[in-house]
Amino acid sequence: MSKKKEEELLKLVSEEEIPVHVAVIMDGNGRWAKNRGWPRIAGHKAGMDTLREIISCADEIGIKVMTFFAFSTENWKRPSWEVKYLMKLPEEYLQKELNTLMEKNVVIKAIGDLSRLPRRTLKAVNDALHNTKDNTGLVINFALNYGGRAEIVDAVRQISQKVAAGKLEPDDIDAQVLADHLYTGDIPDPDLLIRPSGELRISNFLLWQMAYTELWFTRILWPDFNREHFLRAIMDYQRRERRFGGIKK
Ligand code: FPP
Repeated sequence: MSKKKEEELLKLVSEEEIPVHVAVIMDGNGRWAKNRGWPRIAGHKAGMDTLREIISCADEIGIKVMTFFAFSTENWKRPSWEVKYLMKLPEEYLQKELNTLMEKNVVIKAIGDLSRLPRRTLKAVNDALHNTKDNTGLVINFALNYGGRAEIVDAVRQISQKVAAGKLEPDDIDAQVLADHLYTGDIPDPDLLIRPSGELRISNFLLWQMAYTELWFTRILWPDFNREHFLRAIMDYQRRERRFGGIKK
């Protein structure tokens, strides 16, 4: 997108109604590569460039939290060479980008069952969590070995253990208690979900947290997704009327 077009688009984005938290399912990397006769991993590599561009745009317009679905609990079913490559990406990204992330004052967070990640991936993630924990800017939250149902099951298990130990009364369990036991902890629920690649589903992503999230779908494949599409998604979001089950004010 030309600088001029971007400036024009930016003028149309209302500064007052920037979503606080935007979640993204980075889908379509495999198809993008296949369309070019390239191996699937070329699509994931191109997807990383998109990730960088969208993070930089989100930071510029003042979004507070971005959650990216990088690896699902179901992605282990893929061929081992692809899983291996996908597991290398967080390491590559976090090491290469650390200086830029620190300059941008970014906080890295991760959600999911991290205990199953390969040792090197886990170390890269833990280092990034540690190195950026005192930053105060944009929060980039990576969902790694993440599944929405597994997250809820985990929360229920922890709550049950507290009840069994007499630390919590069943009558005191409410939506807030359950939310507090999810991986997302202090992260607010997403205001907007962006899913590229033409699939019209949630795919076990942030099931509890997306109760009132605005959904935005596009047929563009993630490696082709750019700032212009992102700003259009934000503008569409700003035109929506969110009622949270209530009525128009
Ligand atoms: C879905 O496309 C994409 C993924 C499973 C992986 C996405 C990950 C990245 C873009 C990089 C992550 C980077 C970091 C730093 C964590 P697909 O393979 O399902 O595409 P297809 O549906 O066209 O086959």
